[in-house]
Amino acid sequence: MEKLRNTLLLDTLCGREVSRPPVWLMRQAGRVLPRYRELSAQYGFKKLMANADLAATVTLLPVDTWGVDAAILFSDILIVPMAMGLQVEWTRQGPQMPRPLLSYDDPCSRLKTDTSILEQSFRTIDSFQKKRHGVVPLIGFCGGPLTCLCYMLQGNGSKDGFTEAVKYFYTHRRTTELLVDAFTEMSIIYATGQVQHGIEVFQLFESFAGVVPDNLYRELFLPSVRRILSAVRSLGVPTIFFPKGIGAGLPMITPDVCDTVSIDWQTSLDEACSLLHPSMGLQGNMDPRLLHASKPVIARHLEQYISFFRRHPRWIFNLGHGLTKDIPAENVAFVVNWVKQAHW
Ligand code: CP3
Repeated sequence: MEKLRNTLLLDTLCGREVSRPPVWLMRQAGRVLPRYRELSAQYGFKKLMANADLAATVTLLPVDTWGVDAAILFSDILIVPMAMGLQVEWTRQGPQMPRPLLSYDDPCSRLKTDTSILEQSFRTIDSFQKKRHGVVPLIGFCGGPLTCLCYMLQGNGSKDGFTEAVKYFYTHRRTTELLVDAFTEMSIIYATGQVQHGIEVFQLFESFAGVVPDNLYRELFLPSVRRILSAVRSLGVPTIFFPKGIGAGLPMITPDVCDTVSIDWQTSLDEACSLLHPSMGLQGNMDPRLLHASKPVIARHLEQYISFFRRHPRWIFNLGHGLTKDIPAENVAFVVNWVKQAHW
């Protein structure tokens, strides 16, 4: 494999001294960039994701356009539910599953194992290796067990906090455990496959960690996260865990779970530090909605990160959740440049 020229992210993840924090942004590959919008309008998201050459091109867009310090694989967390037999369609309202597991009496009997869909991500990684000229590291990812199970049970995103899925966890405990186990097995195949194809960093997105009480998360879902990330770590790849909305449950994310914790915009970085083991790295956590403000307002907010970095140099600049379509691309460019040029 070609030697990386930009090692800032890996150095930070491994706790080596760096001159500035690395910067990349959740959902940087899709959504904001005009070129992505053109491709997405032309092919549709599902086809774009399935075409390794185009998906690798989209993966590189934010690196070429904004100069971020890492690329993230262009794919989706719902690939694993698809490999488990769920049909997923992407609509304007987001992902939709026409036959979610809640519509069956015995969901486990409906599960299949078809790893062929995972191959598309592996091919994208292969294609990316050829295109990137060894410049930046590639971040692979998968979804968390709770987030993916919410979709698998209810079939689409939800404004009511996935109440039907959460009711199911309480009323069908044994089946939930079996579903989590099946999800874990498939995710391990997916995650370790990504490592074999050459990703350098792995992030697990648990975007709905906040929809259940901390204790339920610890009992039912955290063991699965630990297993998936341990499989990745045992292959020598550093791991980032993003448990969005976990709040006061952060202390359960101990160093045996992951190397670095991605902090959401609800929790301040200093508060997160006080709740986590001192050996752990942090990532985050600018509120993506602040990207709608004027540049002076954004710059004033960014200043506070300088003193944070001096107190806690093992930190990756990122957002506290992903970019959304309506965010002005020029403000994203402004933030990335600011991070790269500030006097840290
Ligand atoms: O930077 C990237 O975009 C990298 C690839 C990536 C996608 N999805 C592509 C995508 C990643 C890392 C994801 C993760 C993902 N997908 C999560 C967890 C992260 C998070 O931000 O919370 C979740 C919950 C999903 C499921 C999903 N996929 C939703 C809810 C949606 C619709 C809303 C949205 O986020 O845009 C998708 C569609 C999707 N996945 C798009 C992209 C680029 C948008 C497709 C389009 O409209 O062009």
